Amino acid sequence: MPAQVISSSEDAVHVSCDALVIGAARGDDGPEIRGADGIDAALDGHLAQHLAEAAFKAKVGDVTIVPTLGRIPARCVAVVGLGAEPDATSLRRAAGAAARRLGERASIASCLHEAAPSDDAAGATAEGFLLGAYRFTLYKTEPHPSKIQRVLVLGAPPASALERGATRAEATILARDLTNEPASTLSPRELARRVREMAGSRGLECTILEETELEDKGFGGILGVGKGSSEPPLLIQLHYSPQDPVGRVILVGKGITFDSGGLSLKPAGSMESMKTDMAGSAAVIGVMSALERLGIKLEVSALVASAENMPSSSAVRPGDVLVHYGGKTTEVTNTDAEGRLVLADALAFGSEQKPDAIVDVATLTGAIMVALGAKSTGVFSNEDALADELISAALAAGERAWRMPLYPEYLSDLDSEVADHKNSGSRWGGAILAALFLQEFVGKGIPWAHLDIAGPARAESAYEEVPKGGTGVATRTLISWLEARGENWSGDIKR
Ligand code: BES
Ligand code: MN
Ligand code: ZN
Repeated sequence: MPAQVISSSEDAVHVSCDALVIGAARGDDGPEIRGADGIDAALDGHLAQHLAEAAFKAKVGDVTIVPTLGRIPARCVAVVGLGAEPDATSLRRAAGAAARRLGERASIASCLHEAAPSDDAAGATAEGFLLGAYRFTLYKTEPHPSKIQRVLVLGAPPASALERGATRAEATILARDLTNEPASTLSPRELARRVREMAGSRGLECTILEETELEDKGFGGILGVGKGSSEPPLLIQLHYSPQDPVGRVILVGKGITFDSGGLSLKPAGSMESMKTDMAGSAAVIGVMSALERLGIKLEVSALVASAENMPSSSAVRPGDVLVHYGGKTTEVTNTDAEGRLVLADALAFGSEQKPDAIVDVATLTGAIMVALGAKSTGVFSNEDALADELISAALAAGERAWRMPLYPEYLSDLDSEVADHKNSGSRWGGAILAALFLQEFVGKGIPWAHLDIAGPARAESAYEEVPKGGTGVATRTLISWLEARGENWSGDIKR
């Protein structure tokens, strides 16, 4: 059971809880407690003294715990650092760090959001607490889930702000759970089963294209990648259709449930984490699960292209030519560049519906990690306005995202002697090449963006509100994007 986040009008000095969380900014003369008026006085000045003696720096995510020894009903005060310029992002990160540190306590009260007042402050802290308390314990014989059961957010913020934060966190957690699930249980079929189950309770229509239908319709990319595995590939479609939508967008997710590399086999070390190669589709599924609750005013379709990339005598071989949905052909020169093969089909298929925008999310290339490090998404787009929208959305959601170029002249690296393109080229600019390949399958005039999340989809160790393992990255960025677009979109409704 995830913790409950509840708005409360109690005040910090009188509230009973296992831990009271308060924020401190990094001032010129040391840490400055923000909000939580009267706490230091109620503790006879011990709080300020403790911070000085503990040499507390108030960097974002620093946590120090001060026992109250009966001076106030809260059993301890957890002071969390917010850095020099606290904002909603530092609140979320700080709340995440606090939740990890306070995992042994059941009841928490927080006036953290008072440290950086804004419309987003309370919701961002709610998100941070729930995201930081996440642990994937399904396969532990002695699970140690977070013991946090209740977070009282003091100062009586609107319940709707907390609910929105909780919905966004829950969507992210669904993405994390799917990403962390081993490939032996999470086959494309099991992914589809779970998505169908979720769709029923979240106001979504769900259609699954099975292998035979993919054959009939010519989805050669998805079929080609899936044919080395005994688990059949499939395409999962979700549809959200509110009343009077102000626009129509499509989200596409890479859903490779395991990427061995295929016959172009990965070395053992690189394969270890490849159960997470469906993180793009996990984010898309997480987003879809939240749309109805958030009252998103856009029509949103999701396409999850799912397959298991395995080597076998039935696997696609280097040199084979695949015919994608829509008829374009690819010479497979490297079976480990499989994500672009399945996405190509989905992008061509989605383009037929002429959406206002199409955004794909994929753990596509190791090269994007070389370019941007392990904590940032690479944003590629054929339209500046769409790229800007997504980068602003990432900023609002507290996720790192950086625009990458689509130099058209690089595409000749993917010239093939036998087909329209080959699927892998030079090592240099590998993330750009992959994006250029995808762009070939996007219909003319359709605004498109590609989010390469190979880095931030998985964390080697916990940081901020992010746990070790699957992170659910891009879920909240895309939700923020859809929220903003639903409110601001002013174009004609295309149907
Ligand atoms: N799933 C990988 C990309 C990846 C790498 C994700 C590391 C997360 C961490 C993708 O399918 C892949 O194997 N890409 C190749 C492309 C190459 C063969 C052109 C890569 O990045 O090496
Ligand atoms: Mn691969
Ligand atoms: Zn892959």
